[in-house]
Amino acid sequence: MKRETLAKLLLDWYQKSGRDLPWRVKGGPHPDPYAVLVSELMLQQTTVKTVIPYFARFMQKFPTIAALAAAPLEEVYLYWQGLGYYTRAKSLHQTAKLIMTEFGGNFPQTKKEVLSLKGIGPYTAASFLALAFNQNETVVDGNVIRIICRLYNLEQTPSKIMPLIRQKAEALTDQNHPADYASAIMDLGALICTPTTPHCELCPWQAHCLARKKGTITNLPLRETTAKPEKIGKVYLVFNNENKILIRKRSEKGLLSGLYEFPWELENAPVFALKAQQTNLSVSHIFTHFRLNLQIYILRQNTPFADGFFISEAEIKNYPFSTLMKKVYKTYSQSQKTATETANVKR
Ligand code: ADE
Repeated sequence: MKRETLAKLLLDWYQKSGRDLPWRVKGGPHPDPYAVLVSELMLQQTTVKTVIPYFARFMQKFPTIAALAAAPLEEVYLYWQGLGYYTRAKSLHQTAKLIMTEFGGNFPQTKKEVLSLKGIGPYTAASFLALAFNQNETVVDGNVIRIICRLYNLEQTPSKIMPLIRQKAEALTDQNHPADYASAIMDLGALICTPTTPHCELCPWQAHCLARKKGTITNLPLRETTAKPEKIGKVYLVFNNENKILIRKRSEKGLLSGLYEFPWELENAPVFALKAQQTNLSVSHIFTHFRLNLQIYILRQNTPFADGFFISEAEIKNYPFSTLMKKVYKTYSQSQKTATETANVKR
């Protein structure tokens, strides 16, 4: 499919159905680069809906780059209050001062100069130059990645194929209308080609979308699998001669705080020095930053340790255990049941 055809379909759709946002004008670049700068900084980590009232108040208070540069930072913070990520406000203020002092109040228009400003990385530089100066720049954010992966049915995780995604996104950009094109593709991602329930029936590219043809839309883009480091440990099921089991309470701070557990330790950081019997059982659990694999050990001993105490197995349900520890107990008790059943069959 030719680039011109796809770009035209998208631009026609944008003229009819694109959003009217206070920091944009349809049909070309925004006449005031300052409005683009402020909005792009605000939109870096915040949704369009939240930004709209902040943008209005901010522009009323600091209507020009000169007004912003002249204001004390405290006052700028006041108008940023509630948006979060205050470094953005500080960067914007520094950039305003820099534009007044180093660029004589004129906005820089080269990629290199724009990238030298505070708070502006490659994405914001591209969107600023496209939206404010109609330069042939392509924005590639999460929305664009999703659209490209679907349009070309790219069935690989985006991080592995970023150069290809970028190349395809650039090839699609309408060089004659970069500002409208940037706004249009942002809107396509926000309104139509959404992550979970895309509105393909309204999409200007529906007839050309390879993922739609293949039925892979909602699988794409493939999710990044972040390989988490694995830690290995030992968990001890300690029984006394009344067949009660030892449990202890975790400290109120840190991982799984305040929950109950069977004593466990990391293999490479042992604390108990126990002569326990290894079973062939283990459980795995995924935490935010790592995977934990615990090998189950059995120990018969009457003296409690590790601030633990013995309870009957029937009492286990009365104590809050972490999912991990529930898995440990379930794995152990199921293996006991299987062992009993096997013994009964043999008898
Ligand atoms: N996200 C980042 N920049 C944007 C813009 N100019 N319009 C809508 N959403 C955006």
